[in-house]
Amino acid sequence: MSTEQTSPAPTLAEDDVDLIETTSDASLERTQRRSDAIEREIGEDPTRFRILTGDRPTGNLHLGHYFGSLLNRVRLQDAGVETWVLVADYQVITDRDGVGPIRERVLSLVADYLAVGIDPQRSTIFTHSAVPALNQLMLPFLSVVTDSELRRNPTVKSELEATGDRAMSGLMLTYPVHQAADILFCKANLVPVGKDQLPHLEQARVIARRFDERYGRAGDGSRPVFPRPEALLSNAPNVLGTDGQKMSKSRGNAIELGMDADTTAKLLKRAVTDADRHITYDPVLRPEVSNLVLLTALASGRRPEDVAAEIGDGGAATLKKAAIEAVNDMLAPVRARRAELAADEGYLLDVLRRGNEHANAVAEATLSEVRQAMHMVY
Ligand code: TRP
Repeated sequence: MSTEQTSPAPTLAEDDVDLIETTSDASLERTQRRSDAIEREIGEDPTRFRILTGDRPTGNLHLGHYFGSLLNRVRLQDAGVETWVLVADYQVITDRDGVGPIRERVLSLVADYLAVGIDPQRSTIFTHSAVPALNQLMLPFLSVVTDSELRRNPTVKSELEATGDRAMSGLMLTYPVHQAADILFCKANLVPVGKDQLPHLEQARVIARRFDERYGRAGDGSRPVFPRPEALLSNAPNVLGTDGQKMSKSRGNAIELGMDADTTAKLLKRAVTDADRHITYDPVLRPEVSNLVLLTALASGRRPEDVAAEIGDGGAATLKKAAIEAVNDMLAPVRARRAELAADEGYLLDVLRRGNEHANAVAEATLSEVRQAMHMVY
């Protein structure tokens, strides 16, 4: 090991530039260009990339998740990219008083994953709570961030505002650091994200760099322990709930993957529309109608403009009928598979056990490099 242990902490002013930069237009454009280039690189050689994504197990996945992220994960997995999918069970306790029916939710999430085509032979599905070495990375990582930069993190800020006067837990404040551990423990070099999550990824990049500068390197000292993960920006269409608002379980506007066809039909029949019988696709001026058109188009593999033109003067009732049919047809095989999986708890647990085993092996190898870099091998 040739690395000096006493290197000074990087000046924060310098790092702040990175964190603030992620939200500027120029930086977003750069990230988009890089993301487009990465898409091409995946086409040429998918084995150069390792992806980590995940979800908090807070409820059943819905069509917003399906079109927004699940299809993309399956696409990347099928393209041959090494894929890690985290069931972020410890993240649940950042924003809740208790864990709720966590076991059911975790198993339900795993059933959702498998039903949409995440393949446990090719992808590693695992949980926070079963991987101690991942969580241990929190300690060195926390040492390279400041509380003021965490307080400026846009998500932490908005969570703080959303919880009103309630005190913020230490875990909520530091959850971007925990997410950095999620990404870095397995040395993922690519994270599929929406624009709003870029500050998280930047935090992980900053942590990877500061760890390298402050603590040292792996092996003979020639390579950083952690890669600097990059963003794969999602160009997924934004599917809204049946009321034209963001789709979410708590709003009662979500079509869950596991719902039955009748409940789906009922929800879509109640969907908000407008008074103009002539159906068009105009997401800005007619968000509710356009969302139903978009749902129909996505579910049936057509262009929204074509769906709208086909319905024409048929009005909202015809549109809803088309949406119900398209969504139920598309989800029928997913639901059948999901029902089978949900009935086989032993299998779901087995998938998790194998995923957790793999995650533990990789996390321990990384932690051992961290100990070496930090001169803490005894
Ligand atoms: N924050 C994500 C969610 O709310 C879950 C998550 C935890 C995650 N760690 C991550 C996503 C790391 C991507 C990368 O569902």
